[in-house]
Amino acid sequence: MATNAYKHMACSYFIPTINIIGEGALEEGASHIQRLGYKKALIVTGKTLHGELGLTKRIIEMLDGIGIDHAIFDGVQPNPTIENVDQGHIAYEEAGCDFIVSFGGGSNHDCAKGIGAVGAGGGSIKDYEGINKCEKGILPIVSINTTSGTGAEATQFSIITDPDRRTKMVIVDHRATPAVSINDPELMEYMPPELTAATGMDALTHAIEAVVSKMANPISDCTAFQAINMIFKSLPTAVENGNDREARTAMTYAQFLAACAFNSAGLGFVHGMAHQLGGFYDLPHGICNAVLLPRVEAYNAEEESVAERLAGIAKYMGKDVEGLSTREAADKALEAINELSERVGIPSGLAELGVKEEDLPALVDNAMKDPCCSFNPRPPTPEGLMSIFKASM
Ligand SMILES: [Fe+2]
Repeated sequence: MATNAYKHMACSYFIPTINIIGEGALEEGASHIQRLGYKKALIVTGKTLHGELGLTKRIIEMLDGIGIDHAIFDGVQPNPTIENVDQGHIAYEEAGCDFIVSFGGGSNHDCAKGIGAVGAGGGSIKDYEGINKCEKGILPIVSINTTSGTGAEATQFSIITDPDRRTKMVIVDHRATPAVSINDPELMEYMPPELTAATGMDALTHAIEAVVSKMANPISDCTAFQAINMIFKSLPTAVENGNDREARTAMTYAQFLAACAFNSAGLGFVHGMAHQLGGFYDLPHGICNAVLLPRVEAYNAEEESVAERLAGIAKYMGKDVEGLSTREAADKALEAINELSERVGIPSGLAELGVKEEDLPALVDNAMKDPCCSFNPRPPTPEGLMSIFKASM
């Protein structure tokens, strides 16, 4: 895309100040954490990582090694709720902590950002729903990632479920960005194939939504194109052989690059609609995205400008587009997404996940209010979103 084809005047780009990625990142990160000068961390995590897998032991040893005390809050559930944020905030205050270490995947980082917002600004996490509501900033967060997908360790987004409304609140604020992110592939090898596939497809969705976004810009394109290329080359291997360190490392970088892309360019209908499926049925985020992604982009590609964008990424997905028309090359990109989904075992439709036809009007209604939809290249309409949901069943 020529730079004069970008449709807006200015872009913003936020990432944590310090980002440590690759083999040995946890050890390398310890000295950075020590230099921050905090005394006691609240480790925000979930029961699987802390209990079943015992992975938090690595974090506790690291903190002990640099003379930092800790308390643990392991009450984060997948699709974290308002209650999880409140419980974590109480744990932080009661233990007398002065910073947060979020340890896990997107749910744990999102919950930590929620705790950070309420801890710094008071009130309820509901008060921070929307864009740039964290006027008092958030508590300092070091995010140590254990999945290669959500990018939440590096972004300004936090997604918290409101069970009363059966929807996910989107909190967007550059001040909600963690201070330090750590992505160590060794901490990701515990992931079973299904989780590797779901989180990897989430990362792919971030990159592709950033590419077609109305806010796409030279920085987001650079990181998104590279992320797409690395995901297509490495995700199948990471799913099929979780101990393949090269594939795990590539996915670690790819998901971070995709996070950099969408943190600047925003997302689109895939996330705006997937948030509703997650909030309504408590379904895994990455799976919802993966099912919706090819259907949303087929809808978006009806616009010539989007077809051009998709045509531009087809070769990064391993497709030979030499001599093809824009439309043919865009179709190759859609074909590549479907092939990757199938290869890594993504369900073929939403009905398989338990989504019911009679719930679609409520899902459309909520999706219309999701901030992610505002970045989509085609404007959201109830008819358009309904047609995509139906095509995804
Ligand atoms: Fe996502």
